[in-house]
Amino acid sequence: MSEPHAVPVITVDGPGGSGKGTVCLLLAEKLGWHVLDSGSLYRLIALQALQQNIKNDSQIVELARDMDVEYLPAGDHLQIMLQGRDVTEAVRAEAVGNKASEIAASAPVRQALLRRQREFARPPGLLADGRDMGTVVFPQAPLKIFLTASAEERAKRRYKQLKDKGMDANLPALVAELEARDRRDSERSAAPLKAADDAVLVDTTDMGIDEVVDRVMHMASLRLGGSVV
Ligand code: DC
Repeated sequence: MSEPHAVPVITVDGPGGSGKGTVCLLLAEKLGWHVLDSGSLYRLIALQALQQNIKNDSQIVELARDMDVEYLPAGDHLQIMLQGRDVTEAVRAEAVGNKASEIAASAPVRQALLRRQREFARPPGLLADGRDMGTVVFPQAPLKIFLTASAEERAKRRYKQLKDKGMDANLPALVAELEARDRRDSERSAAPLKAADDAVLVDTTDMGIDEVVDRVMHMASLRLGGSVV
């Protein structure tokens, strides 16, 4: 049998606001690896469904299969291009996140995104950020991390991000939205948000981002040895 993941993959799953995105970008920079922000794929489908008022399930699956997406390195983040248009900011909107969570409950949509996600595994390695990276998309990954943090702490982080961008934010509303989205992501039958049996749980509630990155780097050097030095 051929080796399913000859390219080393580190999966980082967990609820929104647990720090997955930042941790993956910082680790990718340290290791010189690629990043898959799988949530952005669900957000890209949601953005198009909202903009074009698409409600039909088979049309949504078509979007998942055929959309023309490109990720360009842009300093401390990735620029997201959809059909040649920069949608980096547009996909972050709360309304798009909520729609993405709804769309992500669809098994055919998840199936349509599988190959696209697996194609991100290219040498020298991949940091895969999402909800089902360790359970479904890269089940053979040699290191699986599950990041958590309390809903209050995650909402505070989101609140700060919004305020830093000069946007309006309401902390109790953010806590309620995060909890609702967690519930929807965890209770759906298709690839629910849960830690893989062999994942390492890291609670980031009282940890700074550098501490989280150091912890994962340490685990990566133990598990992956030569591929990360
Ligand atoms: O991580 P995020 O907030 O950008 O993700 C947006 C939504 O997409 C989230 O509510 C759950 C869904 N998602 C998913 O179901 N599976 C993934 N691998 C990534 C995201």
